[in-house]
Amino acid sequence: MGNGTVATLGVVGSGQMGRGIAQVGAQAGCQVLMHDREDGIVRGAVDGIAGLLKRQVEKGKLAKADADAAVARLRPTADLGRFADCDFVVEAVNESFPLKTGIFGDLDRICRPGVILASNTSSLPITRIAAATRRPEQVIGMHFMNPVPVMALVEIVAGQATARATIDATRALALKLGKTPVVAQDYPGFISNRVLMPMINEAIFALYEGVGTRDDIDTVMTLGMRHPMGPLTLADFIGLDTCLAILEILHDGFGDPKYRPCPLLRRMVDAGHLGKKTGRGFYEYGPTGERCG
Ligand code: CAA
Repeated sequence: MGNGTVATLGVVGSGQMGRGIAQVGAQAGCQVLMHDREDGIVRGAVDGIAGLLKRQVEKGKLAKADADAAVARLRPTADLGRFADCDFVVEAVNESFPLKTGIFGDLDRICRPGVILASNTSSLPITRIAAATRRPEQVIGMHFMNPVPVMALVEIVAGQATARATIDATRALALKLGKTPVVAQDYPGFISNRVLMPMINEAIFALYEGVGTRDDIDTVMTLGMRHPMGPLTLADFIGLDTCLAILEILHDGFGDPKYRPCPLLRRMVDAGHLGKKTGRGFYEYGPTGERCG
């Protein structure tokens, strides 16, 4: 596969991130094979993308013909065997190491030699995922940000064995998808979460210690630092369980107490207050995700 020649992109996992990646792939002109465990899940994901594109058309931001063409390029399947047709694959399943290594082992058997297998993981080591395949040179991290269609960054993560040509081809694909790539080395949290999560954790400590109220902490960062969301709002948006899991990876990976997760974060996760997805985190949310408290 040469630079920029991804005719068929495979996306494994049709949750929020997988959908976003499939959407930007289809809008960039790739045929996109979308996979999930069950037909119903992956068909629902295609409907979800079609709905988002329809809203863009209604807002006058996208031509109907372009939206229809993008949807027509989405090919849902529950059969990973069909990924034999793919020129490049991005995995975006749950952040479970055994789940990911199982999928990479399967993709390694199914996909043609030389096809790049990328993981959208936000924090698991690419080097260890690559070791589950016979092609570690062609395994790489391709970490998209949420919401994928809106966020301009792709963090490319080079594992210990990742080949230069793999990095170059992944950069070319990110550019084709309209994103700006940066390359990070495979150390805990890469660049994005090594910088982001300590800020979120510190905001939670500030709340825990009574330095400021929830709203004041967020307002300092939105109005004072021009962040689009305050850190507590962003933690709810990402998911408090995900924030805790990433902080634990940083804490374990570096063995440095500066990454210790705030006890309040642990307590909220224990209570099942995981943020927007459960309707309650630092804030409260209605059934369609709108803030209501
Ligand atoms: N999917 C697709 N499009 C979406 C979307 C979604 N989930 N959410 C919002 N949008 C689009 C809207 O349709 C709208 O598009 P148009 O301008 O074309 O109409 C645009 O984004 C702006 O949306 P809104 O006006 O509704 O709201 P907003 O201006 O408050 O922006 C936001 C929403 C883009 C999410 C903004 O608040 C933001 O940038 N927040 C920070 C997000 C962030 O930091 N993401 C990274 C999280 S960390 C991560 O992903 C990695 C990790 O490893 C944890």
